[in-house]
Amino acid sequence: MRWHNASLFILNDMILDGKKVQEKRLEILKEQIDESGFSPRLATVIVGNDPASELYVRMKHRACEQVHIGSVGVSLPERAGTKEVIREVQVLNRDPDISGILVQLPLPSHIDTMQVIEAVLPEKDVDGFHPANLGRLFAGTPIFSPCTPQGIMTLLNEYQIETEGMHAVVMGRSIEVGRPMAALLLSANATVTITHSKTRDLPLITRQADLLVVAIGKPRYVGPSFVKEGAVVIDVGTNRIDGVLCGDVDFDRVKDHTSAITPVPGGVGPMTIASLMENTFLAAKRSLCTGVW
Ligand code: GUN
Repeated sequence: MRWHNASLFILNDMILDGKKVQEKRLEILKEQIDESGFSPRLATVIVGNDPASELYVRMKHRACEQVHIGSVGVSLPERAGTKEVIREVQVLNRDPDISGILVQLPLPSHIDTMQVIEAVLPEKDVDGFHPANLGRLFAGTPIFSPCTPQGIMTLLNEYQIETEGMHAVVMGRSIEVGRPMAALLLSANATVTITHSKTRDLPLITRQADLLVVAIGKPRYVGPSFVKEGAVVIDVGTNRIDGVLCGDVDFDRVKDHTSAITPVPGGVGPMTIASLMENTFLAAKRSLCTGVW
């Protein structure tokens, strides 16, 4: 058993149940949408036939249905080029019935991902990947924050895990997870270290973490030698080994060393979807105000 702060006593290896928290958040959101009179609508854009991406997009559309957000899906062939994808994004930008646009990543390697991200209007960028949104996040005045890190903050809040004063170590520096995660934790008064593939003495650094967020895309890479006794461990990894989903953390060997840990599946993934729904509703509400943009 570990103390996290003066008021919270947490049992060893508490499993942070993202699915349960997602259900709660979606239920609340559905009520808010029904009461609002708004008609939020999400557009997804997918290029190619990657089965994992197709599954994630289907899950996003299903969540939309659950919370009474309308959704449309644009599907482009693998051979589509950067210009073609951008043209589709521009059609959605101009459509007043579309509140939010999500371009499913990764895009095929011949497409310039950054150009596509920058083509999405910032006020419809419910993924929060546009430089305008990332810039606002790093300035401490976010509008749309990327869904995975925002979902992680929600999960920590729901379990009353107070990050203020914690040393948070974020493994990975992607624009989808690592960098925005660091910005959100900094805004929540954590002391933040980001590690990456060139970091020296990695376990020496990660063992200093009160909160360890792992987003490196290496199946079961983080073992007990990376984790301080009693740390909170958040696993963003979604890797498939022989068809079985596993995280970047070796859950079975690490969990007894933690005070709280997310499972894969059922941890961070559902929270990403909950945040996407919340961002889409926010986009719909903001579209009726004279915006800050
Ligand atoms: N691929 C994996 N995660 C994400 C995400 O959060 N947003 C998008 N657009 N693509 C992803």
